[in-house]
Parts: sequence; C-alpha cells; structure tokens
Amino acid sequence: MKINEDQKQTLIQTAISVRRWAYVPYSHYSVGAAVLTTSGKIYDGVNIESAAYPTTMCAERVAMFKAVSEGEREFVAIAVVTDNAGSPCGSCRQVMAEFGLETQVIIADAQGVVRINTSVGELLPGAFTPKDLPSL
Ligand code: THU
Repeated sequence: MKINEDQKQTLIQTAISVRRWAYVPYSHYSVGAAVLTTSGKIYDGVNIESAAYPTTMCAERVAMFKAVSEGEREFVAIAVVTDNAGSPCGSCRQVMAEFGLETQVIIADAQGVVRINTSVGELLPGAFTPKDLPSL
C-alpha cells in the first residue's frame, strides 16, 4: 500500500510535533517518529534516554511498540524526524522488518523536508524475518 501526499505530510507533521516530548538529557538529539497502520491509525514515538545509556529506546521503536501493543501488526509507512534527517539505526530497521519489508520509510529534517523516501527492505537488504524461522 502506498501513502498519498496528505498522509505523508500528516506523518511528518506528527513526528515533528511530538519531538518536544523526547527525553534526551544526554544526547540532546531529539527524534520524533510516526507510523501509519493499514487500519488508518497513527502512532507516534520519541526517543527516551536513560542514565544507564544502553537502555535508551529509539523513537521509531517506541512508535512501533505502541502500535503493536495496541494490536496493530501491519504498517504502511513510518516517518522519522530529526534536526539533520538522521537515519534509523540497525535495531529499529530490524524491528520494522519484523512487520514487513514493504513499509515506506520517510526520513525528514526538522523543517519537514524529506531527505530520504525509501522502504524497510531497501534499508535492510537481506533482512532476517519471521519467514527465516523453520517452524513458520
Ligand atoms: N535514536 C533514535 O531515536 N532513533 C534512531 O534510529 C537512531 C538514534 C536516538 C537514540 C538516542 O536517544 C539518540 O538518538 C542519540 O543516539
């Protein structure tokens, strides 16, 4: 499923507006994410840091996990916004891949300028997915 321009703008603006809730006392690098489900709902997320640094959680995974914990399993697109249009980390790519390689990934800067418009499959070539498990 491909998103239209309105949906794309809504995702980007949602990701921009939630960045203010990022908990980033250590890096001061605020990330906002917004994911659109096939059911038409949007779930947002921000990065949440921890004094025990490795327990920090990225914005993309917060958004995805919020959606999954509400019963969602299918995602059309995710927008990620930072000051410099930073790219999703490997762990976030893996979590996105769990739910489909076709999901569109929109990476934008703080002004909403789209720098990269791609897919999970392109961001994580050769991904290990549920299909790789022999029992499935
Ligand atoms: N971060 C994200 O939220 N998403 C990513 O994909 C990359 C990194 C966060 C984690 C940390 O709070 C800050 O950015 C600096 O690494």
